Amino acid sequence: MDPRKRHTQLCQQIAEHDRAYYVLDAPRISDGDYDALFQELKGLEREHPELVSASSPTQRVGGEPREGVTKVEHEHAMFSLDNIYNESEVQEFDRRVRDGLVAGAVVHYVAEPKLDGASLSVVYRDGRLALGATRGDGKVGEDVTVNVRTIRSLPLTIPETRKLTLRGEVIIYRRDLDAINEDRLSRGLPLFANPRNAAAGSLRLLDARETAQRPLRVLLYEVVERYHATHHQALTALAELGLPTHGLHHLCKDLDSLRRYIDDFDKRRRELPYETDGVVVKVDELAQRDLLGTTARFPRWAIAYKFAPERVSTVVRGIESDVGRSGALTPVAVLEPVAVSGSVVSRASLHNIDYVAEKDVRVGDTVVIEKAGEVIPQVVSVDLGKRPPDTLPWQAPKTCPACSETVVRVEGEAALRCPNPRCPGRLKALLFYFTRRSGMDVDRLGISLIDQLVEHGLAHDVADIFALPTKRSELLALPRMGEKSCENLLASVEIAKTSRTFSQVLTALGIPLLGTVAASAVAERYRNLRALLDVSAEELTRELSEIHGIGPKLAASLVTYLGDRHNRAVAEKLLALGVIAQEPERTSRVAALGPLLGSSFCVTGVLSRPRDAIHEEIRAAGGEVHERVKQGTTYLVAGDKVGETKLKTAQKHGTKIITEADLHGLLSAGPSGQL
Ligand code: IVH
Repeated sequence: MDPRKRHTQLCQQIAEHDRAYYVLDAPRISDGDYDALFQELKGLEREHPELVSASSPTQRVGGEPREGVTKVEHEHAMFSLDNIYNESEVQEFDRRVRDGLVAGAVVHYVAEPKLDGASLSVVYRDGRLALGATRGDGKVGEDVTVNVRTIRSLPLTIPETRKLTLRGEVIIYRRDLDAINEDRLSRGLPLFANPRNAAAGSLRLLDARETAQRPLRVLLYEVVERYHATHHQALTALAELGLPTHGLHHLCKDLDSLRRYIDDFDKRRRELPYETDGVVVKVDELAQRDLLGTTARFPRWAIAYKFAPERVSTVVRGIESDVGRSGALTPVAVLEPVAVSGSVVSRASLHNIDYVAEKDVRVGDTVVIEKAGEVIPQVVSVDLGKRPPDTLPWQAPKTCPACSETVVRVEGEAALRCPNPRCPGRLKALLFYFTRRSGMDVDRLGISLIDQLVEHGLAHDVADIFALPTKRSELLALPRMGEKSCENLLASVEIAKTSRTFSQVLTALGIPLLGTVAASAVAERYRNLRALLDVSAEELTRELSEIHGIGPKLAASLVTYLGDRHNRAVAEKLLALGVIAQEPERTSRVAALGPLLGSSFCVTGVLSRPRDAIHEEIRAAGGEVHERVKQGTTYLVAGDKVGETKLKTAQKHGTKIITEADLHGLLSAGPSGQL
């Protein structure tokens, strides 16, 4: 095919898949197939550099960081919205709108989500994404075009040549923020309190390559130009151009319908993957908007109905200090349990000792708590009027609550630290971290069991988790440990031992500054733990400096970690206990064509071969292995003696129950074989 034609075709296909993935949340091809298209495009551009243009998906991520901030004057001011909080204020707003229009005018409103992110202006010229700017003070914002180009939910080109000035919000899905925070936690970086801060911070980074790593999305909600008669038509037109919109607007022809939308939305908004903090009510007809105009700060044709974040009062029963895996102590308020934003809270973060001192939080105080970003509960304020007469200011601990070692305050930090490397509190935190989802993912090993393992001397380091199968009788002697739970735990340990990749093992170790992304890069280079342990410190330093994305600080942290005798001993012990820690070859392309692609399997019961071997075979053919049947598990491969409950669970989730022979049938089928 003519290279130019193929180039256009590939650009279009990739743009469509970006939309399916990032906007519609409904990917149509596997990551491997997407990569293949992208690689083909890159190859084509290497051979025909004349084909490269700013609208090619290969050009989303820019080169060097920007020198500094460039200001842009908004051609149309970016107004913010006045807030209201209750029903009677809605009626007042409606009255003001009607007063501003000819008597008896028919007014329709559009109600839509108030997205809680960072506001953005986007300009398309001649069908191309030409400018992205932050709101700034409404008149002058920051030019963040290079960063906005990395946001893959926003097309680089659209089939509309007229100029389009759009307003929208940069958002981060809650689940994506969890992943970012996990990564930041593992790198010892401060966490983002909520998606809004994370979105705003990421949008303004000077290095667009860093922005590209953040899972930003855009949802558009206003067209500045007057190409349509009404707002709802404008929103529909945006969606038809392939631009990302929230799609949740509703045309309300009277206040009753508006009221219902607001109530319903407040009930359902927690089901959305992103944060919202209210409903924006807008006059639908654009001619009416023009008649109403704006005040100095706000349009008269729109208003934000804000939902107050739920705040509740409760009493502080105690103030404890949690020991983290680095030894840092975090003060935590132990509360009289109370329900807030959908769950019962009995502990709330007090951040650090300076925060406690500043708010003067005391045991016995009545405090107001809320969930920051509706996730992490925190103490907002103290109700001094309710303070009992006999309270005392909180004293920061002088010794570690877990090991009684004298704590130290690190200069320049608000944190107290336990300096004891053998502290059981630190070990518990490390074990918790090691076995979590993003690390070794040992199912069935919760915090209370970890406490018991440490307290009963069954775990002295993270590797001991893999020695548990040899300590069955000691395990069974633990309080509340039955035969069945012991079996389940040991099965999870077995799976973790043989199924985690080298990069997962590296992440799980909690090496300072080494997050999931860097761990992958290291794993890609060294392939397995043995090889990493066998390089000398000098070689390691040199080789790490050649890996993209690994800076000198991180490299030094890794070299120090691996130079420590205790750490090396733990790593050797992991290998000796049979932990595989091998990075699979990047077979996503091969696996992508495997017959089991897109299907997931849970294997259970007595089978003709070891379960591990069957798991491996499933993975090699592109399938996913689930340890338990859950929502979305495609097949339960049932051997002999499968319990009734397993089968019932499978039925409940619509999981197909098949035999080992059926599995072989699937495996020998061609790509995308189905039963
Ligand atoms: S319309 C002139 N619609 O809320 C009207 N704004 O508090 C322009 N926001 O700065 C805004 N969701 O960043 C509009 N559906 C929505 C919105 C929305 C969130 C933000 C926007 C604005 C802020 C005002």
